[in-house]
Amino acid sequence: MGRLTTLDLHRKADSERLVMITAYDATMARWVDRAGADIVLVGDSVGMTVMGHDDTLAVTLDQMVYHTRCVARGVASAHLTADLPFLSYQVSAEDALRSAGRLIAEGGAQSVKLEGGAPMAATIARLVAIGIPVMAHVGLTPQSVHAMGGFRVQGRSESEAEGVLRDALAVEEAGAFSVVLEGMPLDLAAEITQRLSIPTIGIGAGPHCDGQVLVCNDLLGMNSQFAPRFVKRYADFEGAAVAAMNEFAAEVRSGQFPTLENSFQRKGGPRAVSRLYGG
Ligand code: KIV
Repeated sequence: MGRLTTLDLHRKADSERLVMITAYDATMARWVDRAGADIVLVGDSVGMTVMGHDDTLAVTLDQMVYHTRCVARGVASAHLTADLPFLSYQVSAEDALRSAGRLIAEGGAQSVKLEGGAPMAATIARLVAIGIPVMAHVGLTPQSVHAMGGFRVQGRSESEAEGVLRDALAVEEAGAFSVVLEGMPLDLAAEITQRLSIPTIGIGAGPHCDGQVLVCNDLLGMNSQFAPRFVKRYADFEGAAVAAMNEFAAEVRSGQFPTLENSFQRKGGPRAVSRLYGG
């Protein structure tokens, strides 16, 4: 059957909400794909979830290519998109073409995502013109964390909201096939969704978008330290992991693991050895 294309996504969005989940390695990608998500996003959130940074700014293009290649091995059905990291596309459209080209050709992504609205419109148009589908990202754009004064909801005031709406209209006009709406009041996201014909995918943007995205680690409950309001945890992977590792440690210390069932025998049966644990 193959992976969903941008055309498939447009068709699907006419009748149901799109589901996008991040993944950073092949195992996670297989889970997301098996769960029936429409889009797997190799987010530059990898800088926080996997690398342990406080923001996404240190993530390099080489690292994004590497993680995209890992994820690509696990995705059979969903559409695969990958983030262009900080400074890999903002300096010039030529940079953007080369960087996006690497995520597609070396990483195996079908499209790229980049942050920014009206100021990125010309770059989006260039990418689309050479055949690289672009998912845009407006509102709270994490790569601008310092300019925003932190990870702050955008568009709360009338003038800010007008700016976010202008950004969304500009990226659609430039040819983006979809746009992520992050960290904004739900009525602003609703208005943008109504005004745009491309699907909007929300995160911290309320229920009225054409789709929703969550970071895989957040929805699985992999980090109990991180509990922002826009996240819903559907599992407690951290609790389950620590409990399993505790059990393993206890069994190693008590000699309950490994048993003979977890061990290998020589032909002809075991020989006597001077020291046998638990023997
Ligand atoms: O990097 C990321 O994971 C993202 C999503 C949160 C939209 O950009």
